[in-house]
Amino acid sequence: MNGEVIMLCSGKGGTGKSTVSVLLGAGLAARGKKVLLVELDSGLRSVDIIAGVYGRTVYDIEDVLTGRCEGDKAVVESPLYRGLHVISAPYEGGRVEPAPLAALCTVMRPCFDFVLLDTAAGMGAPFTAAAACAQKALLVLTPDPVALRDGRIVADRLIENGKVQGALRLVLNRVTRQSFGRGSAVYDLDECIDTVGIQLLAVIPESPALQQAAAAGAAVPATDPAAGAAAAMTARLLGERVPLTVPR
Ligand SMILES: Nc1ncnc2c1ncn2[C@@H]1O[C@H](COP(=O)(O)OP(=O)(O)OP(=O)(O)O)[C@@H](O)[C@H]1O
Ligand SMILES: [Mg+2]
Repeated sequence: MNGEVIMLCSGKGGTGKSTVSVLLGAGLAARGKKVLLVELDSGLRSVDIIAGVYGRTVYDIEDVLTGRCEGDKAVVESPLYRGLHVISAPYEGGRVEPAPLAALCTVMRPCFDFVLLDTAAGMGAPFTAAAACAQKALLVLTPDPVALRDGRIVADRLIENGKVQGALRLVLNRVTRQSFGRGSAVYDLDECIDTVGIQLLAVIPESPALQQAAAAGAAVPATDPAAGAAAAMTARLLGERVPLTVPR
């Protein structure tokens, strides 16, 4: 095994990076892959709840990056999605430095098929550190002009810093029927793709059931349209030629 390191980023906050990280991690785990999801958003942790590991963590990523414990001590398997392993962010403080994160990825890659790095909003320390170790980046954006414009800035920054365009993929999240059309701020999917300038990987619909499940630390119902879209995202990431939605 020599796991692929994939970062999830956005620019604008609250676009669904953490939610999509868990959906993707769960999807890959359901396909038999061993996945490590590392949340790098110090002080604003949420992956622990979404993945159902809240209250089960003893050590967090700050403990690992500052050398207080070995990486494997902080890894907790999700009880909701078997095969998905999580290192949580600390409740407060802690700066993510590139060198210790790179060292963690080097130690973890032989043990996992995928290492997902859920970054914080903006292009601060977690973004920079993750970009230095990730082979691919997923830009998780909502279909609104501000998120898309910020996404373009993030994509440009990643390319300036050496990523090839083909290593970047767009995940549009929280899409509804009202997202597009003449009366909407964004006309269609093509406008999203053109604005950000990278290929589309997935379209995840707005889903009250997903939001409720994430808040409650419960599994997303398999019949939910967001679960179908997440399965398609997973298959497409694995290189399969499938449409954006898989009927459930
Ligand atoms: N497809 C979706 N349908 C409905 N709600 C969603 C969807 N995706 C995310 N959400 C909700 O949007 C909110 C923000 O999601 P999340 O925490 O994953 O965003 P984030 O990009 O990680 O935020 P931050 O920038 O603060 O790290 C949460 O309440 C989450 O449940
Ligand atoms: Mg987050």
